[in-house]
Amino acid sequence: MATTKGTKSTKVGTRVRGGEVRVDLETLKKTVDEGLGEARTAESADALEAVRITYLGRKGLMPQVMKELKSVAPEERAEVGRLANSFKNELAALLESRRGELNGAHSASDEAPVFDFTLPGQGSRRGTRHPISMVIEEAVAIFGRMGFTVAEGPDVETPYHNFDALNTAAHHPARDRQDTFWLDDGNLLRTQTSPVQIRVMESRQPPVRIVTPGRCYRRDTTDATHSANFHQIEGLYVDHDVSLADLKGALAYFAHEMMGPDVAVRFRPHFFPFTEPSVECDFSCHVCGGAGCRVCKGSGWIEIAGAGMVDPRVFERVGYDPESTTGYAFGMGIERIAMIRYGIPDIRLLYENDMRFLRQFS
Ligand code: PHE
Repeated sequence: MATTKGTKSTKVGTRVRGGEVRVDLETLKKTVDEGLGEARTAESADALEAVRITYLGRKGLMPQVMKELKSVAPEERAEVGRLANSFKNELAALLESRRGELNGAHSASDEAPVFDFTLPGQGSRRGTRHPISMVIEEAVAIFGRMGFTVAEGPDVETPYHNFDALNTAAHHPARDRQDTFWLDDGNLLRTQTSPVQIRVMESRQPPVRIVTPGRCYRRDTTDATHSANFHQIEGLYVDHDVSLADLKGALAYFAHEMMGPDVAVRFRPHFFPFTEPSVECDFSCHVCGGAGCRVCKGSGWIEIAGAGMVDPRVFERVGYDPESTTGYAFGMGIERIAMIRYGIPDIRLLYENDMRFLRQFS
């Protein structure tokens, strides 16, 4: 900063008797450096003005130097005069440009958008659960009330778990390249949640009572009721003296809890390689009550699950005693249940991430 009154004169020369100042070249050079330095580092318009007053003001150092020029040693005089003049010009220009700089910075920040704390906030919408998740959670809860716990298995399966251990022979059409997504390493994307039955039985002894929800994959062409990626929930109950009636009772309880108390359950004979006997399980149409409508395609029934008594060959594979062990298994499509329950006409709506559609469920 600028010098104070008492040291002012010593900035440009040597004070001699009676307050008189002798200007000399060396001191002046130091003054010049200081002045330019102060001008460069001043951080406000006021600080710049103080620098100007100190060096260039009417009672400032440079007018004083000019006044004292006659006292300078004759051999230095010309040089002192030149230096003082060039310094005055340089400092004036520097002050000018620094002033512009500081003003510019100042006005830029003046115009910068100021955050208005009184503006209403941007509301963040609370998400909703996906209908597929809702059906899975509800199904798990319903079976949970019957003592089932949740088990999970990998989406990428070995052919052994997806087919062989489920008594599905090498020539079975489900193993066709056209029906299944095969990976280069010989594994595949599971076509059903049934391989989890095998994994669970391989790892523990009866009694077993599990449900296993998850993704499945088939090389289906997508249409209103098919998707190459879909979800199933599998159930497996293994113990002694388990009967088909137990299976029907469990699925009837599920039907009532999931669809409503008036929904009836029927079994139709069917075939699956890993259950014997095998059934397909239909629920009476909850829309028309069984009279026949568009949803049930006029039949009054809707196919919900594949099921049956676990084939003794499967027990053999996992090392259970096929004589003393009995059990049932079922597998149902989650999307099918969601579509019926919520009246969703096209399976593709479930995968398109259209928020207008998804927000309807919660
Ligand atoms: N995994 C069979 C399917 O996807 C369904 C099923 C599961 C059948 C369990 C019987 C027992 O079609």
